[in-house]
Amino acid sequence: MRVDVVSLFPDFVAGCAGFGVVGRAVERGLLSVNGWNPRDYAEGNYRRVDDRPFGGGPGMVMMIDPLRAAIRAARAADPAPARLVYLSPQGRPLDQPTVRELASRERLFLLCGRYEGVDERLVRAEVDEELSIGDYVLSGGELAAAVVIDAVARLQEGALNDAESAAQDSFDADGLLDCPHYTKPASHELGDVPDVLLSGNHAEIDRWRRQQALLRTWQRRPELLEKATLDDADRRFLAGLQAGV
Ligand code: ADE
Repeated sequence: MRVDVVSLFPDFVAGCAGFGVVGRAVERGLLSVNGWNPRDYAEGNYRRVDDRPFGGGPGMVMMIDPLRAAIRAARAADPAPARLVYLSPQGRPLDQPTVRELASRERLFLLCGRYEGVDERLVRAEVDEELSIGDYVLSGGELAAAVVIDAVARLQEGALNDAESAAQDSFDADGLLDCPHYTKPASHELGDVPDVLLSGNHAEIDRWRRQQALLRTWQRRPELLEKATLDDADRRFLAGLQAGV
């Protein structure tokens, strides 16, 4: 997958893509991250990319022309169509179904804002969708872009060593939080591993993991249960939790 990022700090975003699973995906040729800096397309001695907001108020707004030139250069670098995704706190909240959809695209095209944001005319003319990584304000879209790239990269075929592990992630298979995990030693001053995990009974282990996932989701994120994929046994287990059994 080709990823293009329009940002005043393209090296930051590319740097984030240099480690762990994403770095390996890049090394394996599954992903390339290309930065486009609007400052390289700005005019004048100062290569200005921002200015004060009309109407007054604090902060600066990113100007249309340097951004538009960077977006056009990125589009021209590859003929494959690319929907431009603007990262901002005003966007639709990112979730795993959205990550899966983004991961299935041939190209990912991200626009990072800085300062108070981007001139709204540029957003209307060029942006296809707006995404937020959460209800808090970052000082720019770069960290959000790095989050999107990480989430998308690990879903690329061949990025993870164990093909199973993406399917078992929180949210991925059925919209539930993940169950707890344990490794050696089985006995430790911080506690013992639950017996069932040492039993070798895989049906029991699966059942225990499923119930732990349901329990955690019920305790921590009950609203997720409304959209989760549940079977009759899950519903019975949840009914038991609700009844305080
Ligand atoms: N830019 C600033 N804050 C952001 C957020 N919460 N999500 C995406 N982009 C942002």
